[in-house]
Amino acid sequence: MKAMDRGYDLRVFEDSLSLDRAAADLVVDLSRDAVALRERFTVALSGGSTPRGLYGLLASPPYRDLIDWKATHVFWADERCVPPQHEDSNYRLASDLLLSKVPLARAHVHRMHGESDPAAAAASYDKELGSFFGGGPFTFDLVLLGLGTDGHTASLFPGESATCETGRLAVSVPAEGRRERRITLTLPAINRARAVLFLVAGAGKATAVKNLLQAGNVSNYPAALVRPERGSLSLYLDGEAAGLLTASS
Ligand code: 6PG
Repeated sequence: MKAMDRGYDLRVFEDSLSLDRAAADLVVDLSRDAVALRERFTVALSGGSTPRGLYGLLASPPYRDLIDWKATHVFWADERCVPPQHEDSNYRLASDLLLSKVPLARAHVHRMHGESDPAAAAASYDKELGSFFGGGPFTFDLVLLGLGTDGHTASLFPGESATCETGRLAVSVPAEGRRERRITLTLPAINRARAVLFLVAGAGKATAVKNLLQAGNVSNYPAALVRPERGSLSLYLDGEAAGLLTASS
């Protein structure tokens, strides 16, 4: 498995605020195109801490007023198997920072039910995605992703069967060490998106970014398997996360 080939838009920003602003600009642009063409905007949100700044920007002027929230449907890239108000919940993260501050219809919030049996909740989400997107060539207008230091993205971890799933759009992931059980989108769901955006910040991710973009062999990097079939792939990094990249990338 070679590192990501060149079919992606790589941008490096001097600090996290400019990174978040660029990401918010992209979300607005994609939402406007989607609503103009298909009368709806579908986005799968990432978990973790990196997107906190982006969610706060999208919940505030001017960005909040540039998105047609009534035409927007929010999904998740993954969820921890905890109740929705648990501090580890990706739903709670997005709800506190964004969803509670914008006029999004409750029916347009497509939560992964982390409080339920993981396998059943994943099967239910897979079915919901299948009927929502109708089995066509595309899924989401945008999937937001982070990058773990081990090369994971969403809850697609190295060596887990979820990472190799080729049929279902959502599956459950077993607990591992301190990591809770998860529900995650699969690569078929992610790679059928119209746009995928990796948002990566901090010096702690510099090695993972270097491996992802420049290492010769990343066979154990799930993030390297994110290659939208017909959509765009963007990687927005801050200077620290890009700190080990050489000019060739
Ligand atoms: C999660 C995320 C996960 C995250 C990366 C990066 O549920 O934790 O979906 O894939 O994006 O682990 O996390 P940070 O943004 O906290 O570094």
